[in-house]
Amino acid sequence: KRERGSKNPRLRFKSVAPNTDDKVTVPHGYDHNVVVRWGDPVLPDAPEFDFENQTAAAQEKQFGYNCDYVGFRQLDADRGLLWVNHEYTNETLMFAGYTDGNDADLEQILVSMAAHGGSIVEIERIKGTGAWRLATGERPFNRRITAKTRMELTGPAAGDALLRTEGDPTGTEVFGMLNNCSGGMTPWGTILTCEENFNQYFVGGEDAPAEAKPALKRYGIKVSGDTRKGNRRFDRAEQRFDLSRHPNEANRFGYVVEIDPTDPTSTPRKRTMLGRVKHEAANTRLTRDGRVAVYMGDDERFDYIYKFVSDKEYRKGSRRHNSTLLDSGTLYVAKLTGNSPADEIDGSGQLPSDGAFDGSGEWIALCNASESFVEGFTVAEVLVHTRLAADAAGATKMDRPEDIEPSPVTGKVYVALTNNTSREPGQADEPNPRGPNKFGHVLEIIENGDDAGAETFAWNVPLVCGDPEDESTYYAGFDKSKVAAISAPDNLTFDDQGNLWIATDGQGSKFGTNDQLCAVPVEGRFRGELRTFATSPVGAETCGPFITEDNLTVFMAPQHPGEDGTVGSPQSTWPDHQGYPRPSVISIWHTRGKRVGH
Ligand code: FEO
Ligand code: CA
Ligand code: CA
Ligand code: CA
Repeated sequence: KRERGSKNPRLRFKSVAPNTDDKVTVPHGYDHNVVVRWGDPVLPDAPEFDFENQTAAAQEKQFGYNCDYVGFRQLDADRGLLWVNHEYTNETLMFAGYTDGNDADLEQILVSMAAHGGSIVEIERIKGTGAWRLATGERPFNRRITAKTRMELTGPAAGDALLRTEGDPTGTEVFGMLNNCSGGMTPWGTILTCEENFNQYFVGGEDAPAEAKPALKRYGIKVSGDTRKGNRRFDRAEQRFDLSRHPNEANRFGYVVEIDPTDPTSTPRKRTMLGRVKHEAANTRLTRDGRVAVYMGDDERFDYIYKFVSDKEYRKGSRRHNSTLLDSGTLYVAKLTGNSPADEIDGSGQLPSDGAFDGSGEWIALCNASESFVEGFTVAEVLVHTRLAADAAGATKMDRPEDIEPSPVTGKVYVALTNNTSREPGQADEPNPRGPNKFGHVLEIIENGDDAGAETFAWNVPLVCGDPEDESTYYAGFDKSKVAAISAPDNLTFDDQGNLWIATDGQGSKFGTNDQLCAVPVEGRFRGELRTFATSPVGAETCGPFITEDNLTVFMAPQHPGEDGTVGSPQSTWPDHQGYPRPSVISIWHTRGKRVGH
């Protein structure tokens, strides 16, 4: 099927065709380059990357592995700070002959720990283009955050017995952040980076105290069987990852972490007020009265959408004041109710007779800084065992809430629900209308009174993903013969026109083609006309994306290229094609300097 250009004057690019090439493909008229790769120097005294002789000491100064969220803060027209999450490591692609952490050298385990976390790198625009590269000269902001970096637990749960360990009797100091997936930026310029699948780093759950097991289990931590098999075995380097000895250590991961990219000496802060879940992302919008709302998703089948609203107002320019905003407020979880008769939602994706999957919703308050609204839970219990509190509150079980982001143009909030193959047909409801949901969907939330502080909202499902020729799909009513297929929506961003950009994670297993970055108008007569802007190399989910304020560059981060391969048998060798892949961040620009999407 030939893809055509669009009649939409605001999003004209010609859709990239689905492919299985081991490279990044961009539309006609665009170009791209690699900005920074795994192993590139971050700190001034970092050694050159040496794949054959990796050491933790080198990795602690070099760019980490698997890039997910990308944030960018412009310093001047051609210079800026790039923040990148290093979600996790693919050891079988990093070390020859690697099987699991049980057989690994201790040094390999330490390299993996150092390749987690995040990086701040100063970058510069190559004059006259939209391309960016690592800056040369003084780079005072460059910083590596790893699984060992000292952090502070702040907010109402900090210091609680649930967070105290042998190594930290205060319950306020924790080392490292793990599995940081997506994130967001605050109006005051800090980065919110979100700990997601932290469950996989712990062993010994089978011998954890019986009273700790139900909560560990609710977070996906193994509490029976051989918990060491297939594990990275960070506990071999640091005993705190063994829950049989340190059962509370797991309670210290799963937070939204706030980092100031302009102060390399600042302590990253895990904000307990925003709850503990498998946090995917955290994106902000100011309420009508000037407070800050943070939208968050918990990426698990049948888990929830959350919102935090601060007690205090954001004060422009007041860094000290703003650094306290995320420590007191109200944490909410979403309950969505459909407006069509339940018997019209049969799990097939067939639209109900009112022509829309839509309805109303409420934000159920779980707690504020001093009071719990969930019976049987203290404030600290709500914030540390947030999933259990939300279960008790009767929140709506969603199809894996990934990125959630308010449009900077309309304020409407979009949620990527990536898929849920475990939803039975009988479990389909209007906000999750397919069972099983193989391809995912996108939810649109319209806050009451257009106020991010509202406690009620309207919602609808503009995109039901999958092959447009499949009857269960819906592209906001747009002519499906003119759209690209999308599966597994994950990371989101917007351009300055308010078009929604969606990165996918899992087109390969559904369509047999590479993951993509696509763009879709969500307002006006082109609403639903989804087209592919770029494709990732083989096996790589398409992370980032971030569009610069001048709309001249898209940053994109193909994560885990060749994911299922090994050093001896890599399925991808992108971008250097020298025998192994290197997860990287790229920039994409229009060769004639047009705004991206044009
Ligand atoms: Fe790390 Fe939910 O993706
Ligand atoms: Ca309806
Ligand atoms: Ca994700
Ligand atoms: Ca995003």
